[in-house]
Amino acid sequence: MEGKNILGIETSCDETSVAIVRNGNQILSNIISSQMELHRKYGGVVPEIASRQHMKYILITCQAALKQAMVSLSDIDGIAVVNGPGLKGSLLVGLSFAKALALVMNKPLIGINHIEGHIFANFLNIQEIKTPFISLIVSGGHTSLILVKKIGQYQILGNTRDDAAGEVFDKIAKYLGLEYPGGPIIEKLALTGKKDAIHFPRPLTKTSNLDFSFSGLKTAVIYFVKKKKEIKESLQLEDICASFQQAVIDTLVHKTLSAAHRYNIHRIVIGGGVAANESLRKKLLEIGRKYHLSVYFPPKELCTDNAGMIAAAGYFKLINGMTDSFYLDVFTE
Ligand code: KG4
Ligand code: ZN
Repeated sequence: MEGKNILGIETSCDETSVAIVRNGNQILSNIISSQMELHRKYGGVVPEIASRQHMKYILITCQAALKQAMVSLSDIDGIAVVNGPGLKGSLLVGLSFAKALALVMNKPLIGINHIEGHIFANFLNIQEIKTPFISLIVSGGHTSLILVKKIGQYQILGNTRDDAAGEVFDKIAKYLGLEYPGGPIIEKLALTGKKDAIHFPRPLTKTSNLDFSFSGLKTAVIYFVKKKKEIKESLQLEDICASFQQAVIDTLVHKTLSAAHRYNIHRIVIGGGVAANESLRKKLLEIGRKYHLSVYFPPKELCTDNAGMIAAAGYFKLINGMTDSFYLDVFTE
């Protein structure tokens, strides 16, 4: 069979996912077994439930991925697996499964950082993106600006000091009595709201560092809603969602642009669940046109957690000789 087939495994949070990707960009299969419904009633992911579900579904998800890709295990050239950051018990299920496969099939094992995986979602279905580039990863667990010097060579430029961008969408949604995950619901409500109805803070945009902080914004929204309730003034949910979303977008865009200017980089690569947000995508593309930057996003369905992005990262690490031993361990943050 032509090319290299990588089997990717993602079990860091609440999705059990296995994918087969050829040559780092052709998705042969990308099966995602989501536990979202199970966690929804708790308003967030329950770690103990998550790891047990991964145990239950990892084998059948893997079998389904091989079947859909119409390949057998002997056609696989490497096993790529997320070994962190994420939920410890969940990561251990995926890593143990990956080690067993790699050992039995005598194939290389490639550990992938979950954030690294989100970057490589951009390589699926397109030609390779040239390095160096600046990557903004915005997910439920992380908000990071990363300078990707070469494949596997990363410099963290900034991180969130408290809540991640997706986390703050989820927490605000929970406070407003909306469902988990909050991002897509807030985005939907924001469509009919006014983004300049309420001025919420844009945290850390007046400082020169590239870190993020969203807890002050979260408090400002909660305080605003509380106050309105106290004085029995009616709440325009759509306006709150649109104004809050805009504050997050402005902050992310400001910091990303600062990073591009400071490091004189003209390629911006976005990833993570929040990158599925249409208003964020539009704003970054607009900024890209204005400042002559090439802006890349994965297709929306590949922004959230999936094993395709892990397999893509695995391919590029494998061809650059970056494989791991069986001592590979998990890490949580
Ligand atoms: O990358 P991801 O699937 O999981 C982590 O690695 O955390 O991201 C999930 C996060 C959730 O917080 C969710 O609310 C957020 O991404 N999200 C969105 C949108 N879709 C998902 N946030 C804003 N707008 C969206 N359309
Ligand atoms: Zn993720």
